[in-house]
Amino acid sequence: MRVDILTIFPGLFQGFLSESLVRIAQEKGLLEVHLHDFREFAKGPRRSVDDKPFGGGPGMVLKPEPVFLCLEALLAGFQTRPRFILPAPVGRRFDQALARELSRESHLLLLCGRYEGYDERIVDAWHFEEISIGDYVLTGGEVPAMVVVDSIARLLPGVLGHDLSAADDSFEQPLLDHPHYTRPATFRDLPVPEVLLSGDHARVATWRREQRRLRTAARRPDLLSEKPTRSADSPETPTTEA
Ligand code: ADE
Repeated sequence: MRVDILTIFPGLFQGFLSESLVRIAQEKGLLEVHLHDFREFAKGPRRSVDDKPFGGGPGMVLKPEPVFLCLEALLAGFQTRPRFILPAPVGRRFDQALARELSRESHLLLLCGRYEGYDERIVDAWHFEEISIGDYVLTGGEVPAMVVVDSIARLLPGVLGHDLSAADDSFEQPLLDHPHYTRPATFRDLPVPEVLLSGDHARVATWRREQRRLRTAARRPDLLSEKPTRSADSPETPTTEA
């Protein structure tokens, strides 16, 4: 997968792209990320990319011209049109289903907004899909862009050590994950639940299923009212993966 990211703060991505799974995905040739500083396309001595909003009000708005020029230059070199994503609090909610959908694309383009907002003509002319990573406001689209890339990278076939394809359907069943434990079996007088040491796979599966239900009911009851679109009760299907 290729991802092009338009940002005026490319430096923000340096650590993110050079560590952990996202680095491995790139090393394996499964993910290619290209950063483009669209300030380079801004005109005037200060190369400003924002301006005051028409109609008044606080804050500044991302101007269309530097973004249009950057996109035109980029697209001239592409054979096919990438899927255009614009992280924004006004967007459609980003969730695991959308992460899976995007992970199946071959090419994404993410525009990171800043300031109070962006000129709406950018969205309209280029058919950007606006996506929100949650009901809070960040200072810009860079962190959401990292969220999108991170969530997608781990879904690319071959990136994770184990095969995630079996979990493909898992978020159709919206339950939170069960608790996990590793060795030692007792750590500072804190024991692991006995069932996990029993070697009885059926009991373990039942316990995990029950834990998922209890956790979801306590922490995210809203998920229980979401209608599952597939077989809803496969005990070995992990769900919310973090
Ligand atoms: N930009 C600022 N806040 C955002 C959010 N919650 N989601 C996506 N992009 C954003």
